[in-house]
Amino acid sequence: MAIVCKSQSEIDKMRRSGHIVRQVLEELRSMVRPGMTTMDLEKTAEQRIKELGAKPAFKGYYDYPCVLCTSVNEEIVHGIPSSKRVLKEGDIVSIDCGVVLDGYYADAAITLAVGEVSPERKKLMEVTEQSLYRAIEQVRIGNRVSDIGAAVQEYVEANGFSVVREFVGHGIGTRLHEEPQVPNFRSQGAAMRLREGMVLAIEPMVNSGRPEAKVLADKWTAVTADGSSSAHFEHCVAVTRSGPLILTG
Ligand code: MF3
Ligand code: CO
Repeated sequence: MAIVCKSQSEIDKMRRSGHIVRQVLEELRSMVRPGMTTMDLEKTAEQRIKELGAKPAFKGYYDYPCVLCTSVNEEIVHGIPSSKRVLKEGDIVSIDCGVVLDGYYADAAITLAVGEVSPERKKLMEVTEQSLYRAIEQVRIGNRVSDIGAAVQEYVEANGFSVVREFVGHGIGTRLHEEPQVPNFRSQGAAMRLREGMVLAIEPMVNSGRPEAKVLADKWTAVTADGSSSAHFEHCVAVTRSGPLILTG
């Protein structure tokens, strides 16, 4: 499948999907506290997505069982919500949510502190979020997809952390995952230039230790190979004549 550039009216639709994802994530942000489970987050998200008139994007995607991915501490991405996973003071939890509305997808993630977290985890979250904004700055007509990853990698490594290579961002539109792949690191395979109307889900995954990931026996949960902490932030961003437009803001 070739890259699909979106019209203004399609971008407007994606903005509406993006707005729903944002509302869900902000509600989850306000409720995260020690003692709750990742299934509590899932239940709230599922209900709110329905109330807002959208459908979850992840549930049933390659048989994924939930509407959210909730990835705690050394979990990088694709953690499965569970009533057995109790969040405790000092944890960090990445919450990834996707919806489809009127045929158009949006997908975004934030990482939250549970109560007070260590200075290292706090810095990890800040650097990861900031790396996403550095990446978004590169979303300009004529730039290359690889400029996005280069911006993430440079900022993350200058701050002493590492970028996960096994998972990448993606185009998004009438499908959750479209071309192109959007690596969070310098990549020879990402020489393509950005054109007006492209929409990219940019999602840096940053480890406090080594960059390597492995997938657990549940076939979904990706964790750091060395057990170090990991953070993840994601926005969908459109390439427009007036620069980057965040659709999930
Ligand atoms: N943001 C993630 C991604 O784009 C979430 C996908 S979870 C899945 O890959 F279940 F849908 F695969
Ligand atoms: Co995504």
